[in-house]
Amino acid sequence: KHRSRNAVGASSLACVDLAQCGVDMTPASCSAHVLSTGPGMPSGPAALHSCPATKPSMLNVHLVPHTHDDVGWLKTVDQYYHGDRNNIQHAGVQYILDSVIDQLQKDPARRFIYVETAFFYRWWRQQSQNTRRIVTQLVNEGRLEFINGGWCMSDEATTHYSAVIDQMTLGLRFLNDTFGECGRPRVAWHIDPFGHAREHASIFAQMGYDGFFFGRLDYQDKARRMKTKEMEMLWRASESLTPPLADLFTGVLPNGYNPPEGFCWDQSCNDAPIRDDPDLEDYNVDEIVQRFLNAAFYKTNHIIMTMGSDFQYENANLWYKNMDKLIKYVNALQAKGSKVNVLYSTPSCYLQELNLANLTWPLKTDDFFPYADDAHDFWTGYFTSRPALKLYERLSNSRLQTCNQLEVLGGPKSTSGPFGEGDSDTMSKAMGVAQHHDAVSGTEKQHVAYDYARRLATGWAHCEVLVRNSLAVLSGSESPRVFCENLNISVCPLTESSQKVLYFSMNVYNPLGRTVSWPVRLPVNGSLYSVTDTKGKTVDSQVVPLSKSTQQMRRNRGYAKGELVFQVEAPPLGYTTYIISILKDEPPASSPKPTATRSIQNKVHAAESRQPSGAYIFRPNSSDPFVINKTAEIQIVTVSSTVQEVTQWFSPWVSQVVRLYEGHRELELEWTVGPVPIADGLGKEVITRLDTDIESSDYFYTDSNGREVLERRKDYRPTWDLKQTEPIAGNYYPINSRAYIKDDKHQLTVVTDRSQGVSSIYNGSLEIMLHRRLLYDDFRGVGEPLSEPGEFFDGLVARGRLLLTLTPPNMAADVHRPLAQGMVLQPLLSFQDGTPLANTKLEVCRGSFSGLQDALPPAVHLLTLSQWDKDSVLIRLEHQYQAKESKTHSQPITVNLQKLFSTLEVLGASEMSLGANQWKEDMNRLQWNTGNPSPWEVTLNPMEIRTFLLQLRQL
Ligand SMILES: *[C@@H]1O[C@H](CO)[C@@H](O)[C@H](O)[C@H]1NC(C)=O
Ligand SMILES: *[C@@H]1O[C@H](CO)[C@@H](O)[C@H](O)[C@H]1NC(C)=O
Ligand SMILES: *[C@@H]1O[C@H](CO)[C@@H](O)[C@H](O)[C@H]1NC(C)=O
Ligand SMILES: *[C@@H]1O[C@H](CO)[C@@H](O)[C@H](O)[C@H]1NC(C)=O
Ligand SMILES: [Zn+2]
Repeated sequence: KHRSRNAVGASSLACVDLAQCGVDMTPASCSAHVLSTGPGMPSGPAALHSCPATKPSMLNVHLVPHTHDDVGWLKTVDQYYHGDRNNIQHAGVQYILDSVIDQLQKDPARRFIYVETAFFYRWWRQQSQNTRRIVTQLVNEGRLEFINGGWCMSDEATTHYSAVIDQMTLGLRFLNDTFGECGRPRVAWHIDPFGHAREHASIFAQMGYDGFFFGRLDYQDKARRMKTKEMEMLWRASESLTPPLADLFTGVLPNGYNPPEGFCWDQSCNDAPIRDDPDLEDYNVDEIVQRFLNAAFYKTNHIIMTMGSDFQYENANLWYKNMDKLIKYVNALQAKGSKVNVLYSTPSCYLQELNLANLTWPLKTDDFFPYADDAHDFWTGYFTSRPALKLYERLSNSRLQTCNQLEVLGGPKSTSGPFGEGDSDTMSKAMGVAQHHDAVSGTEKQHVAYDYARRLATGWAHCEVLVRNSLAVLSGSESPRVFCENLNISVCPLTESSQKVLYFSMNVYNPLGRTVSWPVRLPVNGSLYSVTDTKGKTVDSQVVPLSKSTQQMRRNRGYAKGELVFQVEAPPLGYTTYIISILKDEPPASSPKPTATRSIQNKVHAAESRQPSGAYIFRPNSSDPFVINKTAEIQIVTVSSTVQEVTQWFSPWVSQVVRLYEGHRELELEWTVGPVPIADGLGKEVITRLDTDIESSDYFYTDSNGREVLERRKDYRPTWDLKQTEPIAGNYYPINSRAYIKDDKHQLTVVTDRSQGVSSIYNGSLEIMLHRRLLYDDFRGVGEPLSEPGEFFDGLVARGRLLLTLTPPNMAADVHRPLAQGMVLQPLLSFQDGTPLANTKLEVCRGSFSGLQDALPPAVHLLTLSQWDKDSVLIRLEHQYQAKESKTHSQPITVNLQKLFSTLEVLGASEMSLGANQWKEDMNRLQWNTGNPSPWEVTLNPMEIRTFLLQLRQL
């Protein structure tokens, strides 16, 4: 059943719109807020009920009072909220909101925008009924407007689309639940992120935003755009989605996000206040008017002025008092013929004026990476900064999706069941915060990075209870279940102590909508094991000696001597169980001696200069990387039916294992880097370079937030004539899941386990930056060198995996799309001592389970499955192929919602916008100049994501 909706909103006039918003808005109070004048009077779908009057024959200066509140950076998110640790940075968000609400009530002309819902949500929960009523009224009247409205203002280079969509959904849902339609942000606002991803623009468009504003773009690009009046444009953000689905009006703000010079009236600034004595006009108003007139690099007779900056408005009176005077005295000059009109405004009111101007805008189809603010200042280091945090964030996304899914599949007992109270909410919020542009980006202070990681760990602790409950419900086994967090360093107390335990069982939960096969490596101390699946069939397995590098990085945290290697196969959206029993408990044979040395090279960039490399910036001191070691030591560990692997040692702190698993066509490179030595006084940025004879010339390809792929070309930008000033750093781009090079015959694709920086400096070569440790701050505010101490305070050791595939170009997507999805949504392993299947009555235990009736078609990805409220569930289905990239999969594909789940009956479905804060049928975006037979059948076109609220019943 489709939810039927009242036909309001879409084509209603201003007053109706407002009446919809406030409970006690009479038409009379309505018109007081519709102040537009003359022929430009907005009406129809584009009209915003409460935009201020502008003057068509003048230059209209839209003052946008705002504060930029980082959800963690130099201080943690809690410290920022409360105004704690003001010795690090004077900033207290609670006082900002208190003060602004106070000042807004003093004059109906004053306006304010608020962006980060993570902060607003906390503040709102502490307010009295009376304050909440006042705030609601301000929101309804458009005086307090939510802009962007995600949980945070996400980073664009190092985030994955799945986590970005989730964090936006979290913030937007709070706003809709609290304020309804009047709280819905219409403008996306990424004033601080360090470069802009095309996928972000596509996501914003699909979420129903009418426009997007940002502050940072390459300095050469900006200079050109100012000259040609192309600071505002239409961004066509997808090559696959039919326009205007992914079209987003995009504007570059004139002063970054700061006020114009001399106009900063916050308590943190030193600019002169507007002096209001009789001689005022002699003082500075003429000059101010002239200054506005000079900002003539925009196409319309409107300009936007960001009046605020980082954590400003703690004493909002200072700002508003001076802006009141600015408006009064500048506009007074109109009587003497001045053509400048200054007004309080918001980004959406400004955007509405641009739309009414009905001009033709330039089209943009590439992205805004990399970002340089000067000739030697490329912000390309943060693509890799804090590699362990980047991995942990990515892994946490996988766990959150698993947690969300199991909450739905396990029903009400998952949040309150045999293992206690669990929830997915804590993890959602921790992930929301982790998407911030100083969180996963790696550009925060060390203590703040620890805080993000701690939040994710706490989130997972809440999810663990939920997952235990849910698996107990689904499997019928309530015996204790443990998760091994440290399998990546071969530590898991339960499997290591297998000398004492005769058997244990391992549950493999697969969050993907298709069957996956996945290699598992468990730390063990025996030399021979039997591994059987739920049907009692023996699975090929092998104990390989623990590598020297794993022993080195594990140090005293475990004592396994070997790793039991086997491959598991897990059903779609479900789990299976393996029983592992020890056959021989003598210790595994130790590693074979080094067998050969050969010339395999790994490289490193040294960093040291006037503009040093830092958390944000990458600036190697030479274009040629140092070769760490020309001759690597090679250890052939094993050649067996399960796995073949070779270990390469480049130095005591750089090693790599090359693996080929039986039945997998990809080659796995497991790299281990660290602690990076700095005793030589040089910071280091370690890259791995893959040299091939592919004729890629200057071209390479990188993904955008893990989705569509963009073409890159060395020393080239599609939209302007690049003057290249940094031959290495100026050619680095972010990747979130993959990069490739190709020629007519071959394509080498690398799938990564976290976000990293990548480039191709030579024909046939692809380099990926793995780790960085630096000795200097890069003067972008963080005030610390990026030198992570790691668990033992001698430097962080990072380990990760790259999956390499070599295919003909026209078959590459068929391989890398599923491979990358599998890396993003990894199976969750959990262990039970003994065999629950033997201990409990067999008939009540379910050794394997799939939540789906059938695997989803290969092109379809189940992006979201999460409990929305008691009776409904949010689901997102995604077409994971781009148009034309796959001969077999780049076709529209249809899924039947009612035939999806095996244990859930779908009673109703309503389609929503991507952000789930609007019903699809109510979506009605501004138009800019430059189209089912059964209600259950959902057709997905290449790269399309469709979002539904489903009413479900457990069968
Ligand atoms: C807007 O411009 C288009 C052509 O660019 C024109 O066809 C249309 O009539 C204009 N609309 C208004 C309301 O002026
Ligand atoms: C291993 O994984 C844990 C999370 O389970 C992560 O915190 C840690 O950084 C990883 N270690 C390495 C060396 O990658
Ligand atoms: C290079 O590798 C060899 C063989 O593993 C090793 O003995 C040597 O110490 C390494 N040199 C450096 C500088 O790491
Ligand atoms: C938005 O919230 C209102 C209540 O504030 C609710 O009636 C409406 O269904 C919500 N919209 C969506 C898309 O969830
Ligand atoms: Zn910021």
